[in-house]
Amino acid sequence: MIENTTSRPILIGTKFMLVLAAITIAAPICKGAHPPLKCAQMPEDAAKPRIALGADHAGFHLKETVKRFLVDSGYEVDDVGTSSEESVDYPDFARAAAERVAAGQDRFGILACGTGVGMAMAAGKVPGIRAANACDVITAQLSREHNDANVLTLGARIMDDTRAIEVVRTFLSAEFAGGRHQRRVDKISELDHSRAAVLAAGTSTTTGAKR
Ligand code: RB5
Repeated sequence: MIENTTSRPILIGTKFMLVLAAITIAAPICKGAHPPLKCAQMPEDAAKPRIALGADHAGFHLKETVKRFLVDSGYEVDDVGTSSEESVDYPDFARAAAERVAAGQDRFGILACGTGVGMAMAAGKVPGIRAANACDVITAQLSREHNDANVLTLGARIMDDTRAIEVVRTFLSAEFAGGRHQRRVDKISELDHSRAAVLAAGTSTTTGAKR
């Protein structure tokens, strides 16, 4: 049989085009990330979760920036304050937003303070809340995929607005991976339950005590 050598370049070209098309169709991979991360793609309008927003005075401006970004992107937000740079206590706003998330009124909470640390500590005390303080996109993504975080906290004194928006975008684009992570998240929930049991026991001892 005589080999048709003229069709070879065409075949190679076609294969190349097919591979290129497959790469283009597949989710893009963000460069420089370790482990490799899919680029953040925001949920479609119909699937957009409702979000509770909160901040103290240090996070006020960042909250406003995040709010504008979310509203412009089609999200519905519930802003629990604060509404100025006047000094306030971050646990008040962490609690207000976290309780909305725990009650199912909002799917996620996003909180801003100076570092994000105080907000994470306070929000995490509300049963059912898994708060993640993320200053980078990898932490934001893995906090959703591995920890099923439902509250994201941001440090306005730690990162600029551009980074913060990228962190928010990544957090909202990622999904909980389940599997082995579900067992671990269940163990976090058990901590909520045992704390509730201890509190209930303390209450019944107190109320039952005759003094
Ligand atoms: C307020 O000065 C600051 O302590 C607060 O915003 C936050 O960083 C706490 O974690």
